[in-house]
Amino acid sequence: MPAFLPATSFPRTRLRRPRRFEWSRRLVAENRLSVDDLVWPVFVVEGQGVRQPIASMPGVDRLSIDLLVEAAQGAARLGIPAIALFPSVDPALKTPDGREAVNPDNLVCRAVRAVKRAVPELGIVCDVALDPFNSDGHDGLVIDGHVANDESVDILCRMAVVQAEAGCDIVAPSDMMDGRIGAMRDALDKAGLQQVQVLSYAAKYASAFYGPFRDAVGSGGALKGDKKTYQMDPANTEEALREVAIDVAEGADMVMVKPGLPYLDVLGRVKEAFGLPTLAYQVSGEYAMMRAAADRGWLDWNKVIVESLTAFKRAGADAVFTYTAPEVARLLAAG
Ligand code: PBG
Repeated sequence: MPAFLPATSFPRTRLRRPRRFEWSRRLVAENRLSVDDLVWPVFVVEGQGVRQPIASMPGVDRLSIDLLVEAAQGAARLGIPAIALFPSVDPALKTPDGREAVNPDNLVCRAVRAVKRAVPELGIVCDVALDPFNSDGHDGLVIDGHVANDESVDILCRMAVVQAEAGCDIVAPSDMMDGRIGAMRDALDKAGLQQVQVLSYAAKYASAFYGPFRDAVGSGGALKGDKKTYQMDPANTEEALREVAIDVAEGADMVMVKPGLPYLDVLGRVKEAFGLPTLAYQVSGEYAMMRAAADRGWLDWNKVIVESLTAFKRAGADAVFTYTAPEVARLLAAG
C-alpha cells in the first residue's frame, strides 16, 4: 500500500464491496493473463508422423518435424506469439565435443526452417546449450572433468549463429556460462544477424524441477554429476540480480528467471530492479506436479493452470514459457 494512503477502517471501508459481482471484480483486477504472454516449449524428434508421449509429462509429446509444423500452425491460429524448440537427439549423435550442436542441418535447424517456411509470423526461440548433443549431458564442454567456461562459450556462440542462420528469431542461452551473452551478441553481429534477439536465461537455478525435461530430451540418463558448478544455488537472490545486471550490460534483450513458481520472489525483484522484458519458465516439474494432481482429481486443471500463470503476471513476468500454452490460449479465448 502506498504510504500516502490514509488509514481506513471498518465499517466505512469494506474491501468485500467490489468483490461482490463478477463485473466489478473484472473492473478492479490488477493483472490479466493474455495469450500475448505465452511461449510454448515443444520437443522435437526425428521421423515422420511421430508423436511420442513423455511418461513424466502426461499430455506433452515429442513431435517429428511434420507434426511440429501442424502444431505451430495451431499455435499461431490461437494467437500464441512464439514457440521454443527443444530437440530430443538420437543418442548415436551425442559426443563429448557436442559437435552436432553446430551442424547447420541438425534436428533443431531443420525444425526451424520448416516452421518458418510454414508459419513465418510465429516467433521461434531456440535454446542454446549443449545438453541435447553432449554425451556427458552437460550444457557446456567437459574438459578434465570440469565444465570448461571459455571453450563452452566458443561452441555455444557457433551454435547460436547456426540456429539464427536457420531462421530462429530469438536465441536463448540457457547454459549459465560466464561471458556468453556478450560473446554471442558479437558473434551474431559479426555474422550479419544484428536483428536476432538474445533472451538470456540469466537467473537459472540448479533445480530438481527440471527432471521431466531431461527425460523429454533424453539428457537425464547421460548426465554425469550435476549442474551446480554453473547453474545457481537455489538459496541465492542477490546473486541473481548480479547475473541479470551483467547479462544486460553484455547486451541481452530479455532476461529469464527459471524455474517459475518456486522462484517468483526472484522474478519480482528482477523486474523491479531492472524494469526490462522479464520472462519466466514454468518448468517441466511444475507442469508434472499440477498434471499429476489434476489427473487424480485432486486439482481442477483448467483453474490451476490459469491461476498459476496469473501469479507469474502478478510477480512481474512479461511472458511465461509454459507447456500449457495451447490449452490456456483456448481457455482464454473461450472467456
Ligand atoms: C537445458 C535446459 C533445461 C531446461 C531448459 N533448458 C534443463 C537443464 O538445465 O538441465 C529445463 C526446462 C524444463 O524443465 O521444463 N539447457
